[in-house]
Amino acid sequence: MHWASATAIVFPALLALCAGQQQQPLSEVGHSGSSHSPPASADAPSWRDELLQLLEALVSTPSANGQENGVGQFLVDYLQQAQYQVDIQFVPPPKDHPDVPDRFNVLAWRGERKPSYKTLVTSHIDVVPPHIPWEIEGGEVSKKTIIKGRGTTDAKGSVATQIVAVNHLLSTNSDVNPEDLILLFVVGEETTGDGMRLFSDSLKHMDPPLSFDSAIFGEPTENKLACGHKGALFCSAVAKGKDAHSGYPEMGKSANELMIRAMNKILDTDLGSSPLFGNTTFNVGRFDGGVAANVIPAKAFVDLAARVAVGSEREGHRVVQQKIADILKETDEDAFAFECTHGYGPYECNCDVEGFEPTIVNYGTDIPNLDADYVRYLYGPGSILVAHGDHEYITVGDLEKAVEDYQKLILHAISQ
Ligand SMILES: *[C@@H]1O[C@H](CO)[C@@H](O)[C@H](O)[C@H]1NC(C)=O
Ligand SMILES: [Zn+2]
Repeated sequence: MHWASATAIVFPALLALCAGQQQQPLSEVGHSGSSHSPPASADAPSWRDELLQLLEALVSTPSANGQENGVGQFLVDYLQQAQYQVDIQFVPPPKDHPDVPDRFNVLAWRGERKPSYKTLVTSHIDVVPPHIPWEIEGGEVSKKTIIKGRGTTDAKGSVATQIVAVNHLLSTNSDVNPEDLILLFVVGEETTGDGMRLFSDSLKHMDPPLSFDSAIFGEPTENKLACGHKGALFCSAVAKGKDAHSGYPEMGKSANELMIRAMNKILDTDLGSSPLFGNTTFNVGRFDGGVAANVIPAKAFVDLAARVAVGSEREGHRVVQQKIADILKETDEDAFAFECTHGYGPYECNCDVEGFEPTIVNYGTDIPNLDADYVRYLYGPGSILVAHGDHEYITVGDLEKAVEDYQKLILHAISQ
């Protein structure tokens, strides 16, 4: 699949953002500011206000896929005010939203831009729709305080805690060389991964060049360090039958019946498992077919996703794809058309870092889209179980633990 044209470019030298777009002082963005903050309890770290104000501004700026311009501009302003050098990398609009304002990846570093870094700290700034406004529980803010809003978990909580962790590490730990670290925030993770793919492609011809020994990906892992994530496979299948009066089924061929039998077989089949990733799972996410109760249906459709636990990173999904194709064929030699749009196998990450609880996650990330030679880490605050839902939320305690943990993880990564 073709995600981005190779001509669509490298980071330009620091760009002036669209003229006419006023910079807003940070304290006015997203109605934050200490005058509105509830009183802090004794368990508050010194950077709690900085963290909550940053997250509030990020969450208050809607950024569903294709609509990342506003949050990108905010981030550029914020990082520049925090003494980072910033480059942006334009990403073409999504096919289904050709007229959106410019969207771009944001790359930020301190000091000279070097050709190689110890570690890349990265997450994504797009979210799933619909926008859900920022809402913080009333009363005194404590570690238990709940914050609701789209992106609080996936993944603006990671973005905010990564930035605060890096700020804090650089200002308090004189052993850390600011030139060991570079930050990257990408668009498009929730749909095609076009932001990270463009960044990855651009590494081949970036000027100055850019490489990194490791990358820390921010996604909700419940503050655990992921040893990897499952692969994925996305497909659709169509069954073709022959219509007839429902009283005379022998005169037709029911596409729905074929589809039901095939899906049932697939659900009962072992699609592969591994000790690290567990079972491959299979979801019939959309099921449609037929026209009316009294008509033998001529056509049935399904959209499918498998979460792949077997095989290699680049090819693991093909094992599962073949098993599904075989079952369709076995069900009916020629009734099915089967097509998979994309997929990949399971990806391992480094979870061997002292002080972290390991986990495995079942969702996709931008790791497969960043095709380079580096050690991977996957960590973030919040739970994937609330991530795309109506009640997405995070707690102040989870965020604050992430700021501490990201510092530990960065120290580990740059000491390797
Ligand atoms: C994995 O699948 C096997 C059967 O194939 C089943 O016995 C087992 O409970 C499954 N494991 C999980 C964690 O679902
Ligand atoms: Zn995410």
